[in-house]
Amino acid sequence: MNSSLAPAALPLSSRPLWALSWLIWRVLPGRAATKMAEFSHTEAGSGLDMLAAVEETHRRELRIKYYRHALDELKHSRMFRQRATALATGRSRARAVIADSDYILEHGINTRESLFSRLGEVEFLAFVWVHERRGAWQFEVYADLLKEDADTSRMFDEIARDERFHIAYSKAELARVSEPGPARWAVLRVRGRRLWQTWMRFSHRLGEVVASLWLILLYGLLLGPFSLLARGLEPRSGGLVRTEDPRPAALRAREMG
Ligand SMILES: [Fe+2]
Ligand SMILES: [Fe+2]
Repeated sequence: MNSSLAPAALPLSSRPLWALSWLIWRVLPGRAATKMAEFSHTEAGSGLDMLAAVEETHRRELRIKYYRHALDELKHSRMFRQRATALATGRSRARAVIADSDYILEHGINTRESLFSRLGEVEFLAFVWVHERRGAWQFEVYADLLKEDADTSRMFDEIARDERFHIAYSKAELARVSEPGPARWAVLRVRGRRLWQTWMRFSHRLGEVVASLWLILLYGLLLGPFSLLARGLEPRSGGLVRTEDPRPAALRAREMG
């Protein structure tokens, strides 16, 4: 990595994510558009979670905040979709991801039962706070990586403004609706679950890579040489032979019969 690529404005703790994201967003062809298409589904999923919370909360004063939050997430989804479409070329993977209407359910972004009813108000607010902070941090890294692309940079700036509101209100409301002890436990549970899910995703991908390597080795070391050997030992077939006899085929067939 040369010095012009170094993320001078970012803290040291963001550098591993920056380096990984640099590979995905800047080096792998088409990945930036695909990532944005995936984000458009994630943001839509968050919007649906917030709309469910609007319906399910018993706290009237929180309804308006959840609703504003839902509108922000649905707007982010639209923004990512538009950027993905603008960056996608031809029949790319990004376009397929955008068009995939089952993406949210298939990737577990939302389940049939709403996040709010699974967690309850306190843990839901803890979840929003933890995940919004994480999302804001990631978007800060991506904004730095893509700062030369004015449209994408503007999009990330606008999203970052909204995320600051999401972080601030969820933290304030968590402190308001819960005692400090249960609120801390709720945050710990959310963080623990997040770590567990990250580990499960990582081990699943690692398993896929290891299985692919074993298959390649199996083919290269066992099946490949046997296939070549079998081809070498197989008697050569004469196949169809072109006749030099100039007489018409019907006449030659009559003689053979
Ligand atoms: Fe968002
Ligand atoms: Fe958000």
